Amino acid sequence: MTKRFPPAPPLGTPMLPVRPSTDTRALLALRRSAGKQFIGPPGPSPEALDELLEIAARVPDHRKLAPWRFIVFEGDARTRFGEGLAGILSGRKAPEAEIAEAGKLLLRAPVVVAVVSSPVDDGKTPVWEQELSAGAVCYNLLLAANASGWAGTWLSEWPAFDAEAGNLLGLVGSERVAGFIYLGTATVPSTERPRADMAAKVTRWVS
Ligand SMILES: Cc1cc2nc3c(=O)[nH]c(=O)nc-3n(C[C@H](O)[C@H](O)[C@H](O)COP(=O)(O)O)c2cc1C
Repeated sequence: MTKRFPPAPPLGTPMLPVRPSTDTRALLALRRSAGKQFIGPPGPSPEALDELLEIAARVPDHRKLAPWRFIVFEGDARTRFGEGLAGILSGRKAPEAEIAEAGKLLLRAPVVVAVVSSPVDDGKTPVWEQELSAGAVCYNLLLAANASGWAGTWLSEWPAFDAEAGNLLGLVGSERVAGFIYLGTATVPSTERPRADMAAKVTRWVS
């Protein structure tokens, strides 16, 4: 497979602190997620996804703990996880419609990546900082995917907050799902959405 990103340089290679790029500015200024019902095939191949994950992992990370990991769902594994989710809801006597919906949750995109916040309890780097790093991974994955021609969206939904779903995913200790990143091809364009009132969001300390 042709690599879409430059390879990581050898350790210690001098790196540019800035990299002005008109394309990157446009990507950031005009970025939109795809609607969760509008992500169809194709999605990134396993090899292309490996590269996206490697890029996604190049985030700020206090004390280099890499406090996150990825669980990838492709092909029939999406159905297998859905069956597990449906089983959880079935055990709780949830309405049939909810059970059926859970079974198909991951089928909304060809590739779904669960980004797991996996904080290291070393008493030095606050867990909050490690969780923020996991959030940065989610966003970096979306941006890397967009820059490579893939649409995506970052969802949590109930499986991200459910202990049994966490067990199904194999989460341990204080691990939590930072996000399920759905990746594929947008079937309809997104439109611009309301934006924050920046005057209300920015406070300036001057002189
Ligand atoms: C941590 C996190 C979890 C989210 N979970 C959901 C979700 O469960 N369902 C949903 O519709 N949108 C969710 N979103 C919002 C979408 O990812 C997306 O940001 C939103 O639709 C706005 O689109 P935009 O990213 O193009 O601005 C979540 C966003 C974040 C940051």
